[in-house]
Amino acid sequence: MVHMSKMVCEKCHKIFSGYEKIWRCVCGGLLDVDFQPSFPIDKIQKRPPTMWRYREALPIAQDQNIISFAEGFTPLIPVDLGGKPVWIKQDHLFPTGSYKDRGASVLISKVKELGVRNVVEDSSGNAGCAIAAYCAQAKIKCQIFVPDDTAAGKLAQILWSGAELRKIPGSREDTAQAALKAAEKDYYASHSWNPFFFQGTKTFAYEICEQLGWRSPDAVVVPAGNGTLLLGAFIGFQELFSAGIISHIPKIIGVQSANCAPLYQACQENLFDIPKIDKQDTLAEGIAIAEPIRGKQILEAVRRSKGGFIAVNESEIKRSLQDFCKKGFYIEPTSTATMAGLIQYLKNSNPDELIVSVFTGHGLKATEKMLKILEESSSNKD
Ligand SMILES: Cc1ncc(COP(=O)(O)O)c(C=O)c1O
Ligand SMILES: [Zn+2]
Repeated sequence: MVHMSKMVCEKCHKIFSGYEKIWRCVCGGLLDVDFQPSFPIDKIQKRPPTMWRYREALPIAQDQNIISFAEGFTPLIPVDLGGKPVWIKQDHLFPTGSYKDRGASVLISKVKELGVRNVVEDSSGNAGCAIAAYCAQAKIKCQIFVPDDTAAGKLAQILWSGAELRKIPGSREDTAQAALKAAEKDYYASHSWNPFFFQGTKTFAYEICEQLGWRSPDAVVVPAGNGTLLLGAFIGFQELFSAGIISHIPKIIGVQSANCAPLYQACQENLFDIPKIDKQDTLAEGIAIAEPIRGKQILEAVRRSKGGFIAVNESEIKRSLQDFCKKGFYIEPTSTATMAGLIQYLKNSNPDELIVSVFTGHGLKATEKMLKILEESSSNKD
C-alpha cells in the first residue's frame, strides 16, 4: 500500500486531497503532487524490469488500479559521438513508441482510481497516442484533440485505440484551447496541466540512476516543449537526492527548436516570465510549444540544476536525423532535435562529464515526414 498523495496549488498554496477530481486549482493555478516516495533498493532490484519496479515512489494507492503494459526500464546504451562517449536512453521503444507512456501509465491509473469515466487530452500526437492506448486498457472513454496537420501514423494509432479524434484547424495553441473548452465537462488528462503525468515521467530519472549503478549523471540533455520529460526528470532526481541515494542533481539541458524557442529566449534574456514569440514552422513538431503552461517551472528547474537551454535550427535537426538514422537508430525528427542539441552541448563539455540524453519518439510514427526529408535531400544533391 502506497501512502496517499496530496495536490498543492503553486499560486495560492491551497492543498487538495489526491482524490479530488480536479486538474487545476480553483484559482486557476497549476497543481503539483505532494507525495513522499520511498526507494527500497533491495526489493526494487528483484522486481521485473518495468517503471513500476519503483512502486513505493508512484502515487497510486491500490495495485488493482494500475494500468500498465509492463513499460519502462528502457535500455540505456553507450554511443560514441565524434570520440565523445554519451549514454542514450531508448525511450522510443515504449509500447506506443514514445516516452509519453511513462506519464500515461501513472495518470490513467490515477484516473481509474478516481472512478472517472471520460477524459479529454490535447497533443501534437504522441501524448494523444499514449493516453488513447492506456484508456483503451482501462476502458475509459477519451477524446483526443490534435492539430489537423498531425502525422498520419499518430492519427491512425489514436483511432485504432478507439479514442474519439478531434482534428482542430489552426495552431497547436488553438488545439489546446479546444481541449480546455471540452475539459469544462470532462476530466482533463492533460500531459501539461495534470500533475499526475509528471509522477510517471519522473521514472526516467530513477531508471537512469539505477542503470548507472545508483549514481547520477553530470548532465542530462532532454527536449523542452511542454517540459513533461524535463520536469519529470527534475522531480525524479530531486527525490533520489533527498532520499540520499544520489550525491548531486545533474545539470538539466533543455533543447528547443530555434523556430519556437520561448524558454531559450527567456534564459538568454534573464527573464522569469515566458516571452511572446513569433513561432515558425519546424520539423520538430513535438517541441513546438509557444506558450508552455509550466514554462516558469521549467525555467526554475533548469536554473536550479545549473543547466541551460540550447536552440537548434532546421538544418541541424535534418543533419542529426541523417547521422543517427545512418547509425541504425530510427527516431522521429523531434527526437533528432534533441540529438542536435546534444551535439552542440558536447562541443564545450568537460571530457570527464557523464552525459545522458534520450531518443523520445520512434521514426515509424512520422513516415511521410521522413520520406519528404529524404526526397528533398536527394533532389538537393541532383
Ligand atoms: C517525440 C517527442 N519528443 C519530445 C517531445 C517534447 O515533449 P515535452 O517537452 O513536452 O516533454 C514530444 C512531445 O510531444 C515528443 O512527441
Ligand atoms: Zn490556487
